[in-house]
Order: sequence, then C-alpha cells, then structure tokens
Amino acid sequence: MPTQNMSLIKTARDIRHPTWRVGDVHGQYSYTNPHADLYRYLSQWSDMESFLNVGYSRPWQYHLHTSSHRRLINRLADGLLALHTVSPHATDRRLLDIAAGRGGAAIHASQRYGLEVVGLDITPYNAYRATANARQQKVSRQVYFNMGSADRLPLADNSFALAWSIESPAHFADKPAFLKEVSRILKPGGVFTMADLLVVDEVALAHPQIYHEFLQMWDVPYLETFASYGQAMAEAGLELRRSEIVTRYNLDILNQDCQLFLRLSQPKWLYNTYKWYLYWAKGANLDNVYQHVLASHRALRLGMIDYGLFWAVKP
Ligand SMILES: C[S@@+](CC[C@H](N)C(=O)[O-])C[C@H]1O[C@@H](n2cnc3c(N)ncnc32)[C@H](O)[C@@H]1O
Repeated sequence: MPTQNMSLIKTARDIRHPTWRVGDVHGQYSYTNPHADLYRYLSQWSDMESFLNVGYSRPWQYHLHTSSHRRLINRLADGLLALHTVSPHATDRRLLDIAAGRGGAAIHASQRYGLEVVGLDITPYNAYRATANARQQKVSRQVYFNMGSADRLPLADNSFALAWSIESPAHFADKPAFLKEVSRILKPGGVFTMADLLVVDEVALAHPQIYHEFLQMWDVPYLETFASYGQAMAEAGLELRRSEIVTRYNLDILNQDCQLFLRLSQPKWLYNTYKWYLYWAKGANLDNVYQHVLASHRALRLGMIDYGLFWAVKP
C-alpha cells in the first residue's frame, strides 16, 4: 500500500486512494483507461452504453441484465415519489439526475414515471452518449443532458423539487460537500434519493491493502460508511427518511459472478481462447478484466463493501 500516515487512519474514510485524480474517472468512462475493459466485457450481457450501475435482483431474477438496472432505478424512484406526493411540490415533475452516466436511468424515469429530467455528468463521453440515447428513444423533449460537476452544481438555489444520484457519489472527492450542494439546489420540501457503495469500517481497517486495491481498480478516492452518510446528510440540512443496505441483492450476486469468472479462468487453454474471442468480439483485454474481477472479489468476499439506498427530504 502506498505510504499514508497510519496514525492518522482512524476509520476507513481516512484511507484514501493517494494518486486518485478526476481524470481517472474520465478514463474509466471514456474507454481510455484499462478499467473500462470491464464495461466492454459486461456489454455481452447488458446495455452498458445506457446503464452503469450494478442493478438489483431477488434470488429468482436474472442479474446483470438491463432489467436488473431498471429494478434498482424503480426501487429508488418508488421511494422518491412516495415522499414527493405528500410534498408541497407534488405537481412539479422535474428531476435532477446528478452524475447521470449514459442516461439510462433518466430516460427510464421519463418513460415509466413521466418525469422531466435534467442529467449532469462530468465525463464528456457520457453526456454525449446520454444525449444520443435520449434522441434515439425519442424523449429529447423530456430528458436533457449536459456536462456538470457534482462538487459545484451549475444550478440556482432552491431550483429542483426532485434529485437523485445513482451509484456515482463513490467517485466524488468530497461527499459531504456534494450533499450540501444537493441541499442548496433543492426547494424546501424537495426530495432526494441516492444509491452508493459503502465501506465497512472494521473490515477495511483490518485489510487496508485489499481495500486500497479496490479503490484503485474502481477509480474511487474513498468511500463513506452507512453511518457517516447519515451524519453528512444531517449536516447538509437533509432529513433522512429511509435507508437500507441491499448488498445481498446486488454486490453479493456480483461476487458470485466474480467467483465463477475466476474459476473458469483457471484452465489456461480456456482463458486464452476466451481472451482471443473477447478482444475480437468486444475489443476488451481479458487480462485487465481479470485484474478488475480479482480485486473486486478479494474485497467483496470479506464483506468489505456494502450497497446503500437513502431517501431524504429538505425540511
Ligand atoms: C457508476 S456511473 C453511474 C451512472 C448512472 N448514474 C447510472 O446509474 O447508470 C458513475 C458516473 O458518475 C460520473 N461522475 C463521477 N464523478 C463525477 C462528478 N464529480 N460530477 C459529475 N459526475 C461524475 C461518471 O462520469 C459516471 O458517469
């Protein structure tokens, strides 16, 4: 693990990816760094040009498929709209999607829930892709994308009644500052929901090297815990109404897939044949995918990473 003053590390929040730069995030999502090969690989099963989240599935449901991404979005949206219908802005149908990725969630919100969505993202490729997807789905009038950073939302105070951020805050350098931005742009009575990766303090502190590799592989500067997010929301002036850990409906399934992938990679002939095929079919380098899967599995099998959903209101 690169040097970090261990006496300053009291919680896993203090363990940082020391060389992280926002450019790494651009690289991962613009197909210009080796971590993007995972998305090329996953595109064999799901629409990674629209959805970039790990989804949500019950035991009998097919995971890592477009439907699992939609299930996660539905779960967040149902909770969001339940709070919205009793808010003073119940007729305001505009949603801000912060770090909207390639637009799948925003487009789904428009098609299924009749919302008008403004999506912002820091990665130019994603903003471009999301715009093209909205056009292709014929929802460009209801769903609009632009570039923007979660650290400093290019929006007026009290301008949105609804906002969400799906599996993106993990990449943000200062998550409490982001939540303050959310609170600033929400109207009083407005509702916010979020899904994100969480670190489990005691596990990460016991295995800092494995945790560090996880952060590095996913281009994540650091992670919050379930409790620290609750506290940061309160400090940002958001009232947390509901939260849940849903790890067993996504990350645990992902971990099983990682395990299977690693097992199938054992026979050299099979690995090499598949490596050739994957490059030919998807342009992905299997060695990069292998490193990504291995680092993820090492952390996930220890229960180091959780997945949390949060719903909050600005009083
Ligand atoms: C895992 S993807 C999730 C995308 C989308 N929410 C979804 O569910 O498909 C994370 C997204 O966060 C964006 N992102 C990362 N840091 C950001 C920042 N500081 N401001 C805005 N977007 C950011 C990335 O470009 C990427 O599109």
